[in-house]
Formats: sequence, C-alpha cells, structure tokens
Amino acid sequence: MLKAPAFDPELIKSDFPIFNRKVRGNNRLIYLDSAATSQKPKSVIAAEAKFYELMNGAANRGAHLLAEEASLAYEQARERVAKFINAKSQEVIFTKSATESLNGLAYSLGNPDSKIHLNAGDEIVVSEMEHHANLIPWQQLAKRTGAKLRWIEVDKTGELNLDGIDKLINSKTKVVALTHQSNVLGTIPPIEKLNKIAKANGTLFILDACQSAPHFPIDVQKLDVDAIVFSGHKIFGPTGIGVLWAKEELLEKLEPFIFGGSMIDDVSMDKATWAQLPRKFEAGVPNMAQAVGLAAALDYVDQLGMQNIEAHELSLTEQFLSEVSHLNEVSVVGPTEMKSRGSVVSFTISGIHPHDAGQVLDQYGIAVRTGHHCAWPLMRKLNLVGTVRASFAAYNTKQDIDDLIKGIISVQEYFRVG
Ligand code: ALA
Repeated sequence: MLKAPAFDPELIKSDFPIFNRKVRGNNRLIYLDSAATSQKPKSVIAAEAKFYELMNGAANRGAHLLAEEASLAYEQARERVAKFINAKSQEVIFTKSATESLNGLAYSLGNPDSKIHLNAGDEIVVSEMEHHANLIPWQQLAKRTGAKLRWIEVDKTGELNLDGIDKLINSKTKVVALTHQSNVLGTIPPIEKLNKIAKANGTLFILDACQSAPHFPIDVQKLDVDAIVFSGHKIFGPTGIGVLWAKEELLEKLEPFIFGGSMIDDVSMDKATWAQLPRKFEAGVPNMAQAVGLAAALDYVDQLGMQNIEAHELSLTEQFLSEVSHLNEVSVVGPTEMKSRGSVVSFTISGIHPHDAGQVLDQYGIAVRTGHHCAWPLMRKLNLVGTVRASFAAYNTKQDIDDLIKGIISVQEYFRVG
C-alpha cells in the first residue's frame, strides 16, 4: 500500500489542540489510547461549535430558519456517513453510541412484532473476543427469547478457533455478531469466510466495526454483511454519536427500539404507526451537533486517506512488535505477526500488574489503557487479570513508539524486574 508523500504524522498532530498541552511531569502527551477514544482535530471542534453558534434549532421540527438549517445540516451529516461506508443514506441510523446501536438491534430482534425475530430454540453466535457491548446484548436477548447463545473460541495465539465452525453456525443460527477487530488483541477475524457460512444458513451477520472503521476503509457493499455499528468518538468525532447501518430490507422488517417524537406516521391514543426510514429509528430531538462533528471528522480522515492511515498505523504496529520482542519479560497478548491484525497491541510485563505499569507510564506522559478492556470472558480464557494496551492512530509517530519502549524499560526498572 502506498503512503501519500503528504502523510506527515507530526503535521497531523498539529491539527489536534490537545497535543499543545503538557501532562504529568510537564511531559509532552504521548497518547496511545485511541482505541478507547481518539483525540479531536480543530475542524471537528469548530464544526460542532459552529452548529451551536449559527444554526442551533431542533431538526425535523419547527417552521423557522434555524430548525430548517439544523435539519439540513443533520441530513447532510447522514449523507456524509453513507458516502464514507458506501451505503444508502436511508440505511444510516444515528444513535448515541455503538453500544446503543447493538442494544437497539438486539432489542428489535427480540420483539415478536418485528417481521424477523428470535424464538426459543434459535441460536446466536458470537466469539470469545467480543467487547461486552457485543456480548451482553446478545446474552440478554437469548435469555429473553429462550434462544441459545453459542460462541467461537479463541486460541492461545489470539485467533478464532474455527474447528467445527460449520456445525457451530447452522440452520438454527439466526444471528452471527462479531467484532471486525478485537479491541484487546488487534486480531482481525476472517469475516468474509464466516459471512459465507452465515449466508449459506440464512443467518444475519452483524459486525462491530468500532475498532475497524477508524483504521481501515469500510465498504458495506463489499463486506455484504447485514449490519455494522461504529462510534463517532473513536474516529476523531464527538462523543454522543454512534452509527447503526443495516440493509434497508432488514430495517424495514424490524420494529423500532425507541419510541417518541418524530419517528411516527400517525398516532392515536391507543396505537401508532411509524415514519419511513431512517426516522422510524430516531425518536427524540436528534444529536445534531454531534452528527455535524462526525461529518467533519469523516472529511478529515478522507482528506488524510483511509489507506494512508491504515498503512501508517500498521507500520507503527510493526515497529512496536519488533522493538518489544527484544525486551525481557514482556509478552505480547495476541498475534505477533502482521498478518490479519490491526493497530491495537496488548502486552503483559512479568511480575507487574497492568495498572501499576500504566501508572508509571503515565509519569512519562504515556497514556495507555490497562485492565480487562471490557472483555472479561477473553481475559478469563487467556488466564489474565488484564493487559496493558497501546493503540495507534494517524497522529502517532515513530518517536511515540520509541518513547513507549523506553517507558516499559523504566517500568521494569522501577519495579526492579526484567
Ligand atoms: N471500547 C473502548 C476500548 O476498548 C472503550 O477501550
């Protein structure tokens, strides 16, 4: 993959005001926690502020100019998202988060009034590497409907163990819900292969794209899954905005998962009918400023080029994996080869609790995530209390990686291990 000559992470860093501040110990900020939430470029902050300064009104309500401009800005943001993932705009539903998108899908699929819904005896397949947000909604759906939750196991190398997959996904499987990239291990599962098996069984395939949409190009036509979700705040956009994309034919079959203003066609005291897509799924005054901010974030990443972002992050990942392999008593948790992995790397340091390591790294201005990463079953499977996780984004530099390596050595010196 070619890297555009203009792709300069130092220049990109200068687009993000937060990197102007100093952190603990008067150190520069070495932000390696973008998988938890990414930082925001000036253009996103300005777009959100501009919405409030110039056009704040309630979208899809009111006859005044501000309401009209707010509605237009909100719908333009939807078109922007649709273009980003190569979808039809009526298939893009704004939610408050990817978590809400997944919960909403699971809720609607449990509603017997939906033209497609789960019953006792049906099966749902997830994997052991799911974030809680793509596990618990399905676990609870199974509990409510009497469906059975099944899962693909993770092997020691952090890959999915596909032995017996043709039996696991079978004609009883109504939903397969999988991560597009593990938020802990960085593993990218073989989605194309699994989707083929799902299709052969008439199974819905739902992809949690939280850790993929910000890091490599997503095209829902090429993926040919039934639904994907992702959050705005991990792709340089604001918090409080998530995306639920699903094929129109699926959305048409599902009942809404929240009810209220603006999602209706007709209402009387004892019944109601629903508006056309996408409004059927968007009750309440929408998160307009956040949608506008997300659109600005997508403009920003498209300007950098998603393929350039991917190539840059993978080169940092390769650098880190190579440098960390020379350290004693540091073990990478997850794939150590570049094949089928993204820019999230978990590791453990022998004899040191991940939280302790994280606190010492923080003294050097290095922000990483520590703990179970909302993937408790995965931690149990790997027999770990937690990991230290570094995750890379467009604004990270080779120097950031070198500083992380020095930081890990300092952690070992501090605790006198290694
Ligand atoms: N889901 C986010 C993470 O993995 C918060 O850190």
